[in-house]
Amino acid sequence: MSRSLGLSDEVRAYVQRLGVREDPVLARCRAETEAMGGVSRMQISPEQGGFMQVVARMIRARRAIEVGVFTGYSSTATALAMKAMHGDGARLFALDLSEEYVARARGYWAEAKVDDVIEARLGPAADSLRGLLAEGEAGGFDMAFIDADKTGYGDYYELCLELLRPGGVMMIDNMLWGGDVAYTTKRDPDTEALRTLAAQIHDDPRVDMTLATIGDGLSIVVKR
Ligand SMILES: C[S@@+](CC[C@H](N)C(=O)[O-])C[C@H]1O[C@@H](n2cnc3c(N)ncnc32)[C@H](O)[C@@H]1O
Repeated sequence: MSRSLGLSDEVRAYVQRLGVREDPVLARCRAETEAMGGVSRMQISPEQGGFMQVVARMIRARRAIEVGVFTGYSSTATALAMKAMHGDGARLFALDLSEEYVARARGYWAEAKVDDVIEARLGPAADSLRGLLAEGEAGGFDMAFIDADKTGYGDYYELCLELLRPGGVMMIDNMLWGGDVAYTTKRDPDTEALRTLAAQIHDDPRVDMTLATIGDGLSIVVKR
């Protein structure tokens, strides 16, 4: 899993012990993903999963989009919170390129009994988001989470904003990118894309926003 920036191991352990109620299926997803080796760094932390569940609860989210599923931690967490509130009426569209990762995620969705409220869409996320718009879904979502290829974030931001209802919340992961965004000497495409988007969000009159220092930096925007 990824690590919250700037927390000592002791403080992180404390937060993960007392700051999160992690569902057993999520704990298993985390342990089994860890065993996959280096790629496991792509997974969100349990405290970020808990935070996203509370956001879903605060806005009573019923319909959500996720861009970047991997082995299913964030989608399972979000779907658990939404299904607890709305039962079968909850709906999460889970977008990813990788059939292999989504196959793993499906196992956790089934174990957590949220497979009936999650619809996976395989392929480039921008195409899937445009597909949702073509299906007449503009303004039809309460929540969106972006956690995929960083150079695609600008497009995902625009498309998700169109898909959100006014008052809907978008969360965008890795906006601090291990701190690299703060150093102008870091000029690789991923860092530049994140920096560009942060400035764009900051100046965007269509949203209220904050860049929260949760996990690897979580931008939270509320559509006006
Ligand atoms: C950081 S991981 C997502 C982690 C996940 N949210 C979790 O909780 O474990 C990024 C995911 O984005 C997917 N991805 C990368 N580029 C993509 C694209 N262009 N379209 C859709 N998915 C993409 C990868 O296959 C990977 O599963």
